[in-house]
Amino acid sequence: MQLKGKVAVVTGAGRGIGAATAKLLAQEGVKVVLASRTRSELERVADEISHEGGEALTVPTDVRSVAQVKAMFAAASELGRVEILINNAGVAIRKRLIDTDEKEFDNIMATNVKGVFLCCREALRSGMLERGGIIVNVSSGMGKMGFPELSAYCASKFAVLGLTEALAYEVSPKVKVYAVCPGGTDTAMYRSLYPEDDFSKLRSPEEVASAIVALCKGEVKLDYGSCLEVY
Ligand SMILES: NC(=O)c1ccc[n+]([C@@H]2O[C@H](COP(=O)([O-])OP(=O)(O)OC[C@H]3O[C@@H](n4cnc5c(N)ncnc54)[C@H](OP(=O)(O)O)[C@@H]3O)[C@@H](O)[C@H]2O)c1
Repeated sequence: MQLKGKVAVVTGAGRGIGAATAKLLAQEGVKVVLASRTRSELERVADEISHEGGEALTVPTDVRSVAQVKAMFAAASELGRVEILINNAGVAIRKRLIDTDEKEFDNIMATNVKGVFLCCREALRSGMLERGGIIVNVSSGMGKMGFPELSAYCASKFAVLGLTEALAYEVSPKVKVYAVCPGGTDTAMYRSLYPEDDFSKLRSPEEVASAIVALCKGEVKLDYGSCLEVY
């Protein structure tokens, strides 16, 4: 599928996998809406995109907030109708379940699960359901297998796969819904979780971005609602 001229919302676009995905989409001629909380990071990514001749709109957004997600989609419509949604924003903590407090658990679920729900719902309500589009939800290898000290994060990423599969049954083929499950990727998140690791062995955020963009272009054949593993 030709992506040139389409409008994409990328959440968590300020750094890591989201920033790499936004930049790669922009290189394909996509107009990208960059959404995360830290304005300075979004502006840096937008500058990089515009220096390369691409188009980007920064909309500081907390995906946990219904009002902010609504406002972000309203702002996005200034670029045209949103046909691509990349739900990438996410947070993680590494703690044994016994040491995890309720606020930490709630924050992971609110960001990683409710944030995906809110953005999918707003995209569909803003016209994607009628006119079609593609949604890619970033889960994780930890959405398929439990890992010690990551119970809240694993629970949230398993939930993203369930949401993706269920939504695909509701809206495909008009709206194509997929998940991507990356393995360890060299980003701020990974480095903060596993500071003791050898980062040179990790895949780059650009590698995951390539898989996401390949899905958007229809270059990867995948059943609706299923997950592309990037291990
Ligand atoms: N790195 C890995 O090894 C790996 C592996 C598998 C899956 N993943 C998943 O890939 C996605 C991207 O992770 P990453 O490794 O690139 O992490 P990262 O570098 O920490 O980037 C996370 C992005 O999400 C944004 N974000 C966090 N909370 C948000 C909120 N409430 N509202 C809006 N944006 C929010 C952050 O910006 P602000 O803090 O400024 O809001 C940031 O832009 C996540 O869903 C993660 O779970 C990562």
